[in-house]
Amino acid sequence: MELRVERDSDVDNWKEVILIYNSALKQIATKLEILNDEFQHVHRYNPIEHIKSRIKTAESIVKKLKRHGYESTIENMVKYVNDIAGIRVICSFTSDIYEIADMISNQRDIRVISVKDYIVKPKESGYMSYHMLVTVPVYLSDRIVDTKVEIQIRTVAMDFWASLEHKIHYKFEGNAPDYIKDELVECARMVSDLDVRMLSLNEQVQKFHQIHQIVKRDGNTE
Ligand code: GTP
Ligand code: MG
Repeated sequence: MELRVERDSDVDNWKEVILIYNSALKQIATKLEILNDEFQHVHRYNPIEHIKSRIKTAESIVKKLKRHGYESTIENMVKYVNDIAGIRVICSFTSDIYEIADMISNQRDIRVISVKDYIVKPKESGYMSYHMLVTVPVYLSDRIVDTKVEIQIRTVAMDFWASLEHKIHYKFEGNAPDYIKDELVECARMVSDLDVRMLSLNEQVQKFHQIHQIVKRDGNTE
């Protein structure tokens, strides 16, 4: 299985395409870092725990093209494979996910192509995450290329679940026994429950803190 990269010009093309996707990832990562810093400045906490990004390997690009019945060409990969550039944003609370998603869509140079909310409607596997497919302009010396980036936003707990599920899926080559699949769905429910409770706990702590500050302030004016 190989991408059709036969001539020198194809190799150049491939290198250029990867350079563009890498630049798009850098741009999105920088935007997210800026939003995180601003959020810290305004709200005194960081919604983003960490960010991971990756470029899809040539092998899995070819696999995906094949699966969808397309020839393995650079043109087809740019056109049909939406997750060549992928970035994963891990945050603490479910509410952070929607704040981050809003902040991203409000950026003037980002165009949101599609959104999949697997939090409101989890996948059959139990998978939860918020997916956005966006384009970001990459400025080259002679042109601007609107480049697709898949953004996955999820909580730490959702990420914990997804990484274990991914390992299990891989180990059983997609055919895990039913009792394991059922257990994973049950764990996903617990993750969802945990996220709701942690959010509520955090809100209670913030309220407590606010009241404490008001009491302290009023106490000082007397
Ligand atoms: P892909 O062909 O896998 O890219 O799926 P898609 O084009 O239908 O997009 P979708 O939004 O459903 O999933 C894209 C990505 O989300 C995957 O590549 C995974 O990273 C992640 N994902 C989706 N479903 C699952 C799941 O059941 N378990 C885990 N661990 N990850 C998932
Ligand atoms: Mg994918």
